Amino acid sequence: MYPADNKKDAVDWKEVQGQHITMVQRNVLVLGSGGREHALAWKLAQSEGAHIYIAPGNAGTANVGMNVNIKPSDFESVKDFCLKQNINLVVVGPEQPLVDGIVDFFKSDEALKAVKIIGPDKRGAQLEGSKAFAKDFMEKYGIPTAKCFKVNKGNLEAGCCFLESLKAPYVLKANGLAAGKGVLIINDLQEAKEELGKMLDGKFGSASATVVIEEFLKGIEVSVFVLTDGEHYVLLPEAKDYKRIGDGDTGLNTGGMGAVSPVPFCTQEFLNRVEDSIVKPTLKGFKAEGINYKGFIFLGLMNDSGNPYVIEYNVRMGDPETEAVMTRIEGDFVDLLHACADGCLNEVHYAKSEKTAVTVMMVSGGYPDAYEKGKVLNGLEGLKDVVAFHAGTSFNADNEVVTSGGRVIAVTAHGHSIEEARNLAYREVEKIHFEGANYRHDIGLDLMKLQ
Ligand code: AMP
Ligand code: GLY
Repeated sequence: MYPADNKKDAVDWKEVQGQHITMVQRNVLVLGSGGREHALAWKLAQSEGAHIYIAPGNAGTANVGMNVNIKPSDFESVKDFCLKQNINLVVVGPEQPLVDGIVDFFKSDEALKAVKIIGPDKRGAQLEGSKAFAKDFMEKYGIPTAKCFKVNKGNLEAGCCFLESLKAPYVLKANGLAAGKGVLIINDLQEAKEELGKMLDGKFGSASATVVIEEFLKGIEVSVFVLTDGEHYVLLPEAKDYKRIGDGDTGLNTGGMGAVSPVPFCTQEFLNRVEDSIVKPTLKGFKAEGINYKGFIFLGLMNDSGNPYVIEYNVRMGDPETEAVMTRIEGDFVDLLHACADGCLNEVHYAKSEKTAVTVMMVSGGYPDAYEKGKVLNGLEGLKDVVAFHAGTSFNADNEVVTSGGRVIAVTAHGHSIEEARNLAYREVEKIHFEGANYRHDIGLDLMKLQ
């Protein structure tokens, strides 16, 4: 099994009765605290001999590893912990530490030389950190995406002319990270011009000092996940996310209310097109630009009559997509990530389950607007046939699991069909109780007719 016979990974030698044997350390640190990180840690913990640490983690991650009270933004403390605990693999969950350069920090520190880290360098992370950078990159490497125009206060008039050249609806995107809120889709031209002005005036702070105006793409959205070592790649299971708070895609946008994987319209032919027109040119671009990218690429795609267009790049896994995707990856995930860090993803066996995963996110009452925290969760012990990934939970003074975020817990079930997985997921969701709990009732319903 990789990497036991691979000398590169012989990071620790132990003398046993006069004989040297190779010990492969499998101490893994996952950075982050949401459902995505619980799902990553859950999968990693299934690898033989793995010891998983999660910083800072949540009440759920405490069941699959050890929570460590360190903020992912505190690179020095992350470093100290890695050295003290002999961590040899770090998996970065959220985008912010990547955009802030955690990979460059690790690579430039002699003491951290033996510690592998999964994620792109700071420049690679600009694919998510700057929409303008991502658009320039796609244009340069011929990757299909919506036509766009970049506006700042200096060329507002030209921006308005570009808006006039488009058909409604109009898509305005804050250039920088805006906590998932920086995209506006507006039907009226005059309103779009007004919003453009407001964005440039700081509606999303410095994130909207530059705004990317985009042509509106038609089609169905799908999230395709890639793990790359910069040279080789594997396509992880794809997923569909449900972003609106209400059934039937109504109400405010959220971080994601559920997920389904696989996605019926994501045929082999479509995936081949994604590989040829998006994944391969993206890797070619990394090489040409000198970007060091050993990590996840999350392609937010629009499927327009079988043709994929990139809506956005993210440089991390999706949430709640990960809570569905991780349950369909077969084999040793620690090995897969070591192979990624070592540049030999082509040498590992990777397979995905044929089963369908459906994930239902339970959220706090009021989310995505203001909500209360500290509500006790009941019913977690009696769950059957599902995995409950904690998103926003912590322990109170009495050691009870309580809510600590908007998205609280993601329940994932498997089935031979979406219908079977849905039925199981919802049967178990109904057993979980906390004051104000809310969830969508229609996760996967739209895809059932396509299956
Ligand atoms: P983003 O943050 O770029 O993923 O955008 C958020 C959401 O806005 C996407 O998931 C899409 O639903 C929608 N969106 C963004 N860009 C476009 C576009 N050019 N055409 C149609 N919908 C878009
Ligand atoms: N579920 C969408 C995201 O993680 O950005």
